[in-house]
Amino acid sequence: MRIAVCPGSFDPVTMGHLDIINRASRLFDKVIVLVSFNPGKSSARFSLEERMDMIKTVTKHLDNVEVDCNDGLLADYLKKTGADAIVKGLRAVSDFEYEFQMALANKKLYADAETVFLTTNSENMYLSSSVVKEIASLGGEIKGFVPDEILETIKNRLYLAK
Ligand code: PNS
Repeated sequence: MRIAVCPGSFDPVTMGHLDIINRASRLFDKVIVLVSFNPGKSSARFSLEERMDMIKTVTKHLDNVEVDCNDGLLADYLKKTGADAIVKGLRAVSDFEYEFQMALANKKLYADAETVFLTTNSENMYLSSSVVKEIASLGGEIKGFVPDEILETIKNRLYLAK
């Protein structure tokens, strides 16, 4: 069985993430969406539970997708679960340097897993969780940026936080 892990902060999950998860679920037997700790992003707007719940909601149509969380090294999680691949989306050249560095570091820490990059759908080139949070917290419309099922949850949390 080929297992892929899609790691990220998912604060919150966007249409761009969902597109990558959907496509990964067709390439692998099992996909684990892993809500992970990014030391470079100190304060998440959504709790771990909220982020996991939102991902569960938007992936419930995908039978081979599971949601989990990890506050340690991704390489250790891959080892523990016997995952074969890390799947990440690449939007632009600006993503590349950071992602390339992480792929090499993860390979050094755990040589049995490959990092697979999926090119983002051109419609999602501009999308990121940070863009969603900025627009929503300034009262802008985020329909189409995040899956419809979680639109109200995100709006309620971020509009109120204004
Ligand atoms: O969505 P993000 O914030 O760009 O995802 C980055 C993430 C969470 C995948 C990355 O920071 C990560 O893998 N964190 C886990 C800790 C780890 O293994 N760090 C070393 C990576 S080389």
